[in-house]
Amino acid sequence: MSQVERAVEALRNSGLVVLPTETVYGLAADVSDPGAVARVYAVKGRPANHPLILHLAAGARLDTWAAQIPEYALGLAADLWPGPLTLVLNKTDRVRGYVTGGQSTVAVRVPDHPIAQAVLTEFGGGLVAPSANLFGHVSPTTAAHAEQDLADRLIPDVDVVLDGGPCEVGVESTIVNCTGPAPEILRPGTLPLSDIQQAAGVALVESTDPTIRVSGALESHYAPAASVQLLTSAEQMRPDPSLRPRIGLLAPYEIPTPSGVVRLAAPRDELEYARLLYASLREADALQLERIEVIGPDGDGAAARAIRDRLNRAAADRSS
Ligand code: TXA
Ligand code: MG
Repeated sequence: MSQVERAVEALRNSGLVVLPTETVYGLAADVSDPGAVARVYAVKGRPANHPLILHLAAGARLDTWAAQIPEYALGLAADLWPGPLTLVLNKTDRVRGYVTGGQSTVAVRVPDHPIAQAVLTEFGGGLVAPSANLFGHVSPTTAAHAEQDLADRLIPDVDVVLDGGPCEVGVESTIVNCTGPAPEILRPGTLPLSDIQQAAGVALVESTDPTIRVSGALESHYAPAASVQLLTSAEQMRPDPSLRPRIGLLAPYEIPTPSGVVRLAAPRDELEYARLLYASLREADALQLERIEVIGPDGDGAAARAIRDRLNRAAADRSS
């Protein structure tokens, strides 16, 4: 039996599948199986009121799962799926409250990864798939990262881990609320705003609705064990790292590494930065660094904004 066939069989028997996508690895379960979905929450340690994203095969009927779909959302789906884009839409009765945290909306995405697509197509239904990390921790961009967080909680011969190599995008999908008159970004991702705007055919609006729950909007999230300190320039780096040796640096390529500091990554552009971000945070923990000094990417690009968003949460006060 192939890996994809094993995964599909596991899903049909209420098992969970660690599934590679182009953004980050997901922890997948059959959306129509309440017991399997309950295990997704239990395995992640995720609060039950944090809704899950429904993943569909390319070409699957959206109106099975979503109702009153606005024209601009059809445009986004037509132009940008498969891809790192999640649409929040009004749900149909087919989507149960245990998926949406009791909300009347559902988040839907068609991932652009050959293994995810093979599993979805062969499975035929919908799969919930939150990022395959423990709640609040750094999202996994390799199968090994997912196993570091979840291996103890998965059940051998019931659950399956699929290894699709490192994720191409590296940060989670852009989430767009499509329940109002115009699309609204709820979680920034790497998709250029101009692409979203063009596919939607109407202007984006600023996010305002505090009642829409996005778990990434919690204060501390995407956080490694090492403390994360955000710097705006190389001048702010600790002048003499030899006084406190366990420091890592994540910064764009042009910033030099002071002696005594562990360079975690030196990305050459914002897309490479996104791809290396989470692996760098996890590497700092593997090296038992005490703290990570981080200089984020410059500029207004979507990926740069998405990275700064994740870094702000990784650096947020954990006591709250
Ligand atoms: O790239 C991704 O989106 C990855 C891969 C695995 O597909 N998935 C992911 O899932 O990031 P998760 O569960 O870690 O984050 C899902 C986000 C949460 O912030 C959740 O609150 C939001 O989607 N969400 C889900 N349903 C929603 C809804 N009905 N309204 C608003 N936000 C929703
Ligand atoms: Mg997540």
